[in-house]
Amino acid sequence: MKAVIPAAGLGTRLLPATKAQPKEMLPVYDKPTIQYVIEEALKSGIDDIVVVTGRNKRSIEDHFDKSYELEYTLQKLGKDRVLKQVRKITDLADICYVRQRDLNGLGDAILSAERHIDGEAFAVLLGDSITKGPLCTKGLIDVYEKYGESTISIREVPNPCVDRYGIVGGSEVEENVYKISNLIEKPKIGQAPTNLAITGRYVLTSDIFDKIKETEPGFNDEVQLTDAISKLNDVYGIKYMGEVFNIENRLGWLKSSINMAMEDDEFKQELLNYMKTYI
Ligand code: UTP
Repeated sequence: MKAVIPAAGLGTRLLPATKAQPKEMLPVYDKPTIQYVIEEALKSGIDDIVVVTGRNKRSIEDHFDKSYELEYTLQKLGKDRVLKQVRKITDLADICYVRQRDLNGLGDAILSAERHIDGEAFAVLLGDSITKGPLCTKGLIDVYEKYGESTISIREVPNPCVDRYGIVGGSEVEENVYKISNLIEKPKIGQAPTNLAITGRYVLTSDIFDKIKETEPGFNDEVQLTDAISKLNDVYGIKYMGEVFNIENRLGWLKSSINMAMEDDEFKQELLNYMKTYI
């Protein structure tokens, strides 16, 4: 299976940090966000990846490309551990890049990858969200293989926050697996069928491309992937039980960085002591 990673958005909620740098390249602790995303795809068994980029996104390609000068210098300085890390990034996966010419929304971004997909089902991992815990994409692939239909990752969000997400309605067909009956992008509070939100991981059958083409611009005047998915006949949802970090705004980015830094035994205690100075 291939994966499509949309990463063409402007990241306006993170300006000025994202003025000349893609938000998908913002470091979460010590790695760019998109590297976590690509690592999730790889660990889920996918190594053929299409990244959808746009203008000002060159640094994504550079990050996953060879860096001869850097490698030469690290070798000369005998910095073997970091040299190994740098080389590993280049060897991660077979990545190709397509451009989304006009930023017409997530549905439109996925459509830019159509000719790389060959009629097969494919995974979508949003380039600005990180999952932690069970492998989210692997879980989706397993459910897709069982039912043969598009499958999306969902999770419970607090009721007062439903207007920030794509929300699904449906019935549970087995533990944590739902047959989805309706999807609404950013519903008004009080009008959401549930508090189950789409989390930014999908396995989609290739008929999604025709559905995207039939989809009129919706929320924010953009072609919404959620609206296109709601045109598919059968869609399953799987409740993700791990953590999801959205690098969509300052707070999301900060929380994810702190969470990842707390995993590093070298700095954990010092970071905690520092945070305590604010209490
Ligand atoms: P977002 O809507 O969160 O990203 O899309 P954005 O548009 O960059 O953010 P703001 O609202 O301006 O702050 C989620 C993911 O989909 C990609 C983004 O790059 C991000 O990784 N995306 C979004 C595209 O590739 N193309 C689009 O037209 C929109």
